[in-house]
Amino acid sequence: MNSTKTYRSRISGTGSYLPEKVLTNHDLEKMVDTSHEWIMERTGIYARHIAADGEVTSDLSLKASQRALEAAGLTAQDVDMILVATASPDQPMPNTACILQHKLGARTCMSLDISAACSGFVYGLVVADQFVRTGAYKHVLVVGAEVLHPYVNYKERDTCILFGDAAGAVVLSRAEEDQDSEIYSFFLQGDGAIGDLFVLPAGGSALPFSKEVLENGQHYVRMKGREIFKHAVRTMSECCHEVLRAHNMPPSEVSWVIPHQANVRIIEAVAKHFGISMDKVVVEIEDMGNTSAATVVVALDKAVRDGRIQRGQNLLLTAFGAGITSGAILMRY
Ligand code: UT7
Repeated sequence: MNSTKTYRSRISGTGSYLPEKVLTNHDLEKMVDTSHEWIMERTGIYARHIAADGEVTSDLSLKASQRALEAAGLTAQDVDMILVATASPDQPMPNTACILQHKLGARTCMSLDISAACSGFVYGLVVADQFVRTGAYKHVLVVGAEVLHPYVNYKERDTCILFGDAAGAVVLSRAEEDQDSEIYSFFLQGDGAIGDLFVLPAGGSALPFSKEVLENGQHYVRMKGREIFKHAVRTMSECCHEVLRAHNMPPSEVSWVIPHQANVRIIEAVAKHFGISMDKVVVEIEDMGNTSAATVVVALDKAVRDGRIQRGQNLLLTAFGAGITSGAILMRY
């Protein structure tokens, strides 16, 4: 490895996978006191996908990864590092990246989970870029995957309407000399002072599983929705501002914004802040809901596959999540 030369990163392939089972607003109307109209108006969500019994995060990751590798024209043997961004790993140990490495039939490579909740994929892509940039690795598989439904209380209407299961993956590769793709700038932050806005209380050393935990429902996600909403708009706007400023690019030169898909009103507020029209924003929330670390990468894959996103375009990725974590990446696709 040449220690002085640096390289540019290029997304060489994308893939995604949504489980077959679908839970619609009309299904939820039968489970909690809510309505299709309320959910559509307040969130923009109509349906969420729910993993089948026994279908775990590494399974969803595997399908998305195989599609990304195929799109890149690579095989699992070409992968130099695996990053899995997830808040819902198969189990605490071993990490999901190692389980995926084995299921994929990849070489015994560096395999790491990234824990940054809904910002996890954006964090992961930045980590991958550092390894490609230095020349340490040529092809890094970056996955955002969640099976969230076990952590959702389907008796609580303010959370159960939001979340779904999904996985997306990209292969981040070293760009060839004649390819002008590049990650121009990134900005990531974590603010633990407001960490209590969105928590999964039990299952860690602070509150190990017990009969009481189950009785009190502390194994389910809890959030202060209205406050998260405010901070989501603020932090994503800040992060986008920072990456644009760092590369001296006006918002008008952004071809596509690919934001975390948590609530369509959050997305609209961020776009409005930058004067970016909604037809330059990739919105895929209606059919999948909030899939945490998977939202940005699934939206990216969908827009690549249906031809919205083209080579040479400037992409602005942004996310926020529990932590509170947030981030943005400005790149040439
Ligand atoms: O990835 C990060 C994860 N979390 C988020 O991104 C959440 C961000 N926050 C949000 O998306 C929104 O705050 C929610 C969708 C969770 C809630 O929407 P809202 O417009 O902020 O509603 P609200 O919390 O201000 O509640 C308004 C009313 C309340 O009734 P009252 O107190 O005004 O009588 C709620 O009880 O709506 C009620 N409500 C519902 N009504 C029907 C809350 N959930 C529902 C529901 N159906 N599902």
